[in-house]
Amino acid sequence: MTDEIRSLFYEKFATKGVLYSAPGRVNLIGEHTDYNNGFVLPGAINKTIVLEITPNYNEHYHVVSVDLSQEVIFEADDKKSEQSWANYIIGVVMEMKKRGYTVPGFNCVFGGNIPRGGGMSSSAALESAFAFAINDMNHFNIPKTELAKIGQMAEHNYAGVRCGIMDQFASLHGEKEKLIRLDCRSLDYELIPFHPTGYKLLLIDTRVKHALASSEYNVRRNQCEEGVHVIQKKHPEVESLRDVTEVMLQESKENLPSLAYQRCLYVIQENARLMRACDALKQNNFLAFGKEMFGSHDGLSKQYEVSCDRLDFLVDFARTYPGVAGARMMGGGFGGCTINLISTKEYQAFMIAVTEAFEKQFGKKPFYYEVAIDEGARKIG
Ligand code: GLA
Repeated sequence: MTDEIRSLFYEKFATKGVLYSAPGRVNLIGEHTDYNNGFVLPGAINKTIVLEITPNYNEHYHVVSVDLSQEVIFEADDKKSEQSWANYIIGVVMEMKKRGYTVPGFNCVFGGNIPRGGGMSSSAALESAFAFAINDMNHFNIPKTELAKIGQMAEHNYAGVRCGIMDQFASLHGEKEKLIRLDCRSLDYELIPFHPTGYKLLLIDTRVKHALASSEYNVRRNQCEEGVHVIQKKHPEVESLRDVTEVMLQESKENLPSLAYQRCLYVIQENARLMRACDALKQNNFLAFGKEMFGSHDGLSKQYEVSCDRLDFLVDFARTYPGVAGARMMGGGFGGCTINLISTKEYQAFMIAVTEAFEKQFGKKPFYYEVAIDEGARKIG
């Protein structure tokens, strides 16, 4: 991938630039909790966006996508592009501008190996790669957490998804073989070593591309906010679902629309599952960890209702299969991948069995990605 980027860059711009990369992420547990100020447990992965960039001493930004064979030239004037991928980049430049950083013109070629729409946050990786590179190249000295917020706001304002901070945060702060237990309220985080001896992380792709912007993502967020408003009538000190216990939720149950109640209950219980999962992880108890993953999936499927047939099928199959410690849908939902923690001994047999069952049910084979927890955004050359 890097060679292809290098040679196209030279062909287009007759010079050499600097290379940067930023990864996608997995999330082990803690889904749809980030925008509710709760906890998440992501890790950066060994699938990345790579870009080569150089200043062009002009007022425009010229960006070429190797994978799509498309290019855009834009200025810092807030106009959206017809190429949806370009809006993430325009978004980053504009969000920096809003914060008082004038981004000098640049030429850039980028590519990547993060499947798009697979729930591994290829868009956050794109935002993080550009935010990191622009910051480094221009010596802006913006802290990583602020870069993550810039990426998140690019997503809100230029892609129309009111996402939380998890994906960009993981892409920027990731470390090899460490998961990030992030408190999305304070943005304090703990790095938890992840050495699942005897297990592998496997993503199984349903091949249903999730489209968060047009999906129910923003609706879920609104339902949670609706819940908070009602609870605030009894408990004015509450700022988000993070401050709400199950007892408090029950007290307001009769005033809550039933869907808002279900969504809030899920979020409160998911935060509790994450806490138990982290304790299990610290004791290397992968069976106990996996149990919380299955619990998370049940909540996402039945209470939060962001799963789909294929995701449920894959998790149900995994649940009955010996050697699978845990499995759940991952990311925003409505398609994308399941994340599975599988014993290395059963790994091959499981893949054969699940492929056969999935194909029988849906007429096609799923895709598989074996992922490792890796470093976050960085300069690579
Ligand atoms: C998407 C969003 C994240 C998070 C997850 C669900 O990946 O970008 O902020 O809300 O969905 O946990």
